[in-house]
Amino acid sequence: MKLSVVIPAAGQGKRMKTEKNKQFLMLNDKEILAHTLNKFESASVVDEVIIVAREEEIDYCKNKLVDNYDFGKVTKVIAGGETRQESVYNGLQAVKSTSNYVLIHDGARPFITAELINKVITAAEKYDAAAVGVPVKDTIKVINSDNMIINTPDRSKLVAIQTPQVFDKELITEAYQNALADDFIGTDSASLVERINQTVKLVQGSYENIKITTPEDLEFGERILARRK
Ligand code: CTP
Ligand code: MG
Repeated sequence: MKLSVVIPAAGQGKRMKTEKNKQFLMLNDKEILAHTLNKFESASVVDEVIIVAREEEIDYCKNKLVDNYDFGKVTKVIAGGETRQESVYNGLQAVKSTSNYVLIHDGARPFITAELINKVITAAEKYDAAAVGVPVKDTIKVINSDNMIINTPDRSKLVAIQTPQVFDKELITEAYQNALADDFIGTDSASLVERINQTVKLVQGSYENIKITTPEDLEFGERILARRK
């Protein structure tokens, strides 16, 4: 397989409420995004990495991350869009023509492991589409606009989806083009594949593969790193 990795990192990190974009905050010795990139740089199965960043942060990514840490697999740092979906779509269009699989992983998920990367790629080779997720711990309710509970889906059938998500390149390209044509905006890449009637294989993920979103995630993250040392 020839695998391109697309790292959406073009968000604004609003929920973190820091002046600096959350992905450039330090976690121990490195920026959050550098932790993430490090994992893919070290994965032998990865042929190239494309970083999708905010226009005004492209130079920072190139100089302070790619050059500084010598991430040789990064072929492009390109501009993202208004939504994560647009950012990923921009990334997909920049993928090398020789690649036949694409792995999509949030820049803000630095605790991904080599083992999980390999597991989800193996599943994608078999099923064309695979995503990492974990069983939900809380009971999930469906509510209406008045905050009245409508119903309670069976928890045993629910998973919280994460990234990486890995797809056959033609399949994921078709899924994104279709969503664009229908003005459909989904919150993850797998949902775009599901809506063109292709099933996505779930790979058991890890509760440590969190997305750094709010300030308390940074404390949790420091503890994960300390334990892994
Ligand atoms: N992302 C992106 N382009 C966007 C929005 C988000 O590439 N227009 C990326 C983020 O940089 C992040 C990932 O998608 O790596 C997951 O998004 P999220 O955790 O929501 O990050 P932000 O959008 O930056 O945070 P917030 O929603 O709090 O503003
Ligand atoms: Mg967001």
